[in-house]
Amino acid sequence: MGTVKSAIPGLDELIEGGYVENDIILVTGGPGAGKTTFGVQYLIGGVTNYNEPGILVAMEETPSRIIRDSWRFGWDMEKLISRKKLKIIYANPFKYTKFAKTPENSPVCSIAASKNVGDIFRQIQDAAGEIKARRLFIDSITSLKLSSDADARDIVSELVKNLEYLDCTTLMTSEIYGGQSFSVEEYLSAGVIRLHVFRAGGSRVRAIEILKMRGVKHDDSLHPYDIQEKGIVVHPTETVMNDAVSLFDAVG
Ligand SMILES: Nc1ncnc2c1ncn2[C@@H]1O[C@H](COP(=O)(O)OP(=O)(O)OP(=O)(O)O)[C@@H](O)[C@H]1O
Ligand SMILES: [Mg+2]
Repeated sequence: MGTVKSAIPGLDELIEGGYVENDIILVTGGPGAGKTTFGVQYLIGGVTNYNEPGILVAMEETPSRIIRDSWRFGWDMEKLISRKKLKIIYANPFKYTKFAKTPENSPVCSIAASKNVGDIFRQIQDAAGEIKARRLFIDSITSLKLSSDADARDIVSELVKNLEYLDCTTLMTSEIYGGQSFSVEEYLSAGVIRLHVFRAGGSRVRAIEILKMRGVKHDDSLHPYDIQEKGIVVHPTETVMNDAVSLFDAVG
């Protein structure tokens, strides 16, 4: 079983070299923690450094917004799309309600025609086949859980079961809210990475924690991470004391 590099400087050494190939890894955190950046960096780094094509499934933010924000880090998603190394699928489960505006079709992304998990999965599978994708990033599954009358547990487990058939290593994000207990996606994913934002003294401290990584002897400490000009950087030799008050964990 191979490893898949995270493309986040400093992270791979906390998880024995990278993600386990074809695993599903959950990235959780509060608002603004850096979840989207974490996943886009995984896709961009995969193409640029390892020639591993990738798929982005955007479930909340519009693709044009994600593309625009990525420019800030020097990442040219459109170039990779035109080279058939990257595909974006816009699958916003709320856009079918009569209250939401239908987004404009775009040359850089395809739009999922359904909010049904099985249909979205088939679209991912087709896109992955077209560009021989090895990496998949789903951002985020929170809206999917909220979009249906079905039990959130059933939706997430259907999605996870489907994704296990893909020949891709998958990152997916979900939001955490104050005081929330462990969620179904945390149990079902092979790995869980949490991005904490703490308030320490007068300033904000970002810390990453590997909550689980099945089959891997992973690090157990909180390590600081920064969002820098070229993306997220983890500092594996430094640790953060978790007696600081978490901005988001402590609310609620
Ligand atoms: N160029 C930059 N340099 C430093 N920090 C940045 C830069 N661009 C964005 N940030 C930080 O990254 C944060 C947003 O990152 P990102 O969108 O990846 O977070 P997120 O967890 O996906 O947020 P959301 O909950 O809104 O989905 C911003 O709040 C900002 O603090
Ligand atoms: Mg985000």
